Amino acid sequence: MSLLDVRDLTIRTSDGRELVSGLSFSVDRGERLGLIGESGSGKSLTTLAVLGLLPDGMTATGSVELDGTQIVGASEKRLVGVRGSAAAIVFQEPLTALDPLMRVGRQLAEPLRRRRGLKGDALHKAVAEALEQVRLPEPGRIARAFPHEISGGQRQRVALAM
Ligand SMILES: Nc1ncnc2c1ncn2[C@@H]1O[C@H](COP(=O)(O)OP(=O)(O)OP(=O)(O)O)[C@@H](O)[C@H]1O
Ligand SMILES: [Mg+2]
Repeated sequence: MSLLDVRDLTIRTSDGRELVSGLSFSVDRGERLGLIGESGSGKSLTTLAVLGLLPDGMTATGSVELDGTQIVGASEKRLVGVRGSAAAIVFQEPLTALDPLMRVGRQLAEPLRRRRGLKGDALHKAVAEALEQVRLPEPGRIARAFPHEISGGQRQRVALAM
């Protein structure tokens, strides 16, 4: 069984229009997979379906097995346990993915606090480590900055670190 196993995934709008039709692929640990297709062909919807994040009204059929969990038809509670641990999304536009009113360090701290239960010095250290892992220079300055105060490439790295 692969880490991610997508079988016969079909995504439909509420009025029954097929946006993705019978797609199958799998990804093993350590593997990378690129989806290539023309604009509007369903790449983003496919990745959203993998995390159970399809827009309201859209439905997925088929099977998406992620790290042993069936995503299609899973409860929200089940999905919350999978998102951010087994898989995460780095959205295309870092300026819209980040909260413009929150300093970078605090945004990075949030998932670390929720997922790993870190606080105080340990949380502080984990934030600095996350920034270093994506090779951001001056992690102290970046952590104190608001998203608009760092460059586009730096924002993308912050999103990756999250
Ligand atoms: N929220 C939505 N409501 C209705 N239709 C949508 C919605 N999101 C996407 N679609 C439609 O689903 C189809 C697939 O969209 P998707 O965003 O997956 O394309 P994509 O392959 O990621 O394109 P791009 O390369 O431009 O990012 C498109 O026809 C699009 O119009
Ligand atoms: Mg897309």
